[in-house]
Amino acid sequence: MMQTFPNNKGLIIIFILLATFITLAIGQGTRVGFYQTSCPRAETIVRSVVQSAVNSNAAVAPGLLRMFFHDCFVNGCDASILIDGSSSEKTAAPNSLLRGFEVIDAAKTQLETACPGVVSCADILALAARDSVVQTGGTGWSVPLGRRDGLVSRAADTANLPAFNDPVSVQIRKFTDKGLNTQDLVALSGAHTLGTAACTLFSYRLYNFNSTNGPDPSIDPAFLPTLQNLCPNGGDGTVRVDLDNGSGGRFDNSYYANLRNRRGVLESDAALWNDPTTQRFVQRFLGVRGLLGLTFNVEFGRSMVRMGNIEVKSGTQGEIRRVCTAIN
Ligand code: HEM
Ligand SMILES: *[C@@H]1O[C@H](CO)[C@@H](O)[C@H](O)[C@H]1NC(C)=O
Ligand SMILES: *[C@@H]1O[C@H](CO)[C@@H](O)[C@H](O)[C@H]1NC(C)=O
Repeated sequence: MMQTFPNNKGLIIIFILLATFITLAIGQGTRVGFYQTSCPRAETIVRSVVQSAVNSNAAVAPGLLRMFFHDCFVNGCDASILIDGSSSEKTAAPNSLLRGFEVIDAAKTQLETACPGVVSCADILALAARDSVVQTGGTGWSVPLGRRDGLVSRAADTANLPAFNDPVSVQIRKFTDKGLNTQDLVALSGAHTLGTAACTLFSYRLYNFNSTNGPDPSIDPAFLPTLQNLCPNGGDGTVRVDLDNGSGGRFDNSYYANLRNRRGVLESDAALWNDPTTQRFVQRFLGVRGLLGLTFNVEFGRSMVRMGNIEVKSGTQGEIRRVCTAIN
């Protein structure tokens, strides 16, 4: 009888090793430190490429942050946004103004030299989004990695991306469809603390909103002339305006103060204040007395990790692309 104990122990150890091996082989989503042994310099390489790109063109930071969002919401975080071709996601209207593709390509080139065939384009996007936040004054977070690159990229699939004129009910539904809750919606919309929007996406609010022959009444009357000067009626729709008035280059929580002051630029942003459910979260990010406070810098990272796990491919699904713009 005594003999069976060591045997059982041995069996248990073998079982654990086998289970670990199977888990690794099949893949179980993402984890922090995924490239620790296979490509130890992966994160450093992406960070340095993003740093130098943002230093020479600050608009790259918001570009990369938005690109990750648009990747994750369409077929999961699988770099499908990066594929070139006549009817790929990139060609769809909601993606027409994305910026920073060249930064992802530059990082991939360096990574292929350092560790060929190891680091996915989807993971580069996840890291570049985080590094863009850090580079503009935000707080970093550990990025779980191990995503694999997708094999499908179709323009038509971008229809589920939230639109600039979506009411809150639709925004919430689009986030819920991806496993994200209302707090995630308000936290992640805080990405609009960075970057700009083209006049063409909001100037309809300034002159003849909803066929009223007047501006959207929810815009601060003191802010309205600023927007009208930047986007004259019938003017150049490609002119870009800060989404976070007064602090467009800095990752901070002033976006929420702007929402409270009715200085949201997009209709979808203004709606987050106008709706009582989302307004409650905006107030919590602002630390309004009597409400349980939420720290933007902390919650943003947590929600980014959740967004970064949408429909992730791992194990033997998908592939590791050789170049980010094309399937192998
Ligand atoms: C309801 C959800 C959202 C809607 C309707 C929305 C819509 C938009 C629109 C219309 C623009 C202007 C694009 C342009 O003119 O170039 C924009 C810009 C931006 N969005 Fe969102 N967005 C949403 C959520 C998010 C999320 C979740 C993120 C990232 C986590 C994000 C990051 C950005 C950034 C950084 C910019 C500035 C881009 C630049 O300057 O190039 N957005 N968004
Ligand atoms: C637009 O106008 C219609 C009809 O007057 C009204 O029911 C609707 O609430 C308005 N929408 C907005 C966003 O103000
Ligand atoms: C922010 O708003 C103020 C007041 O309307 C305006 O004077 C200023 O030019 C705006 N700043 C930017 C960067 O849009």
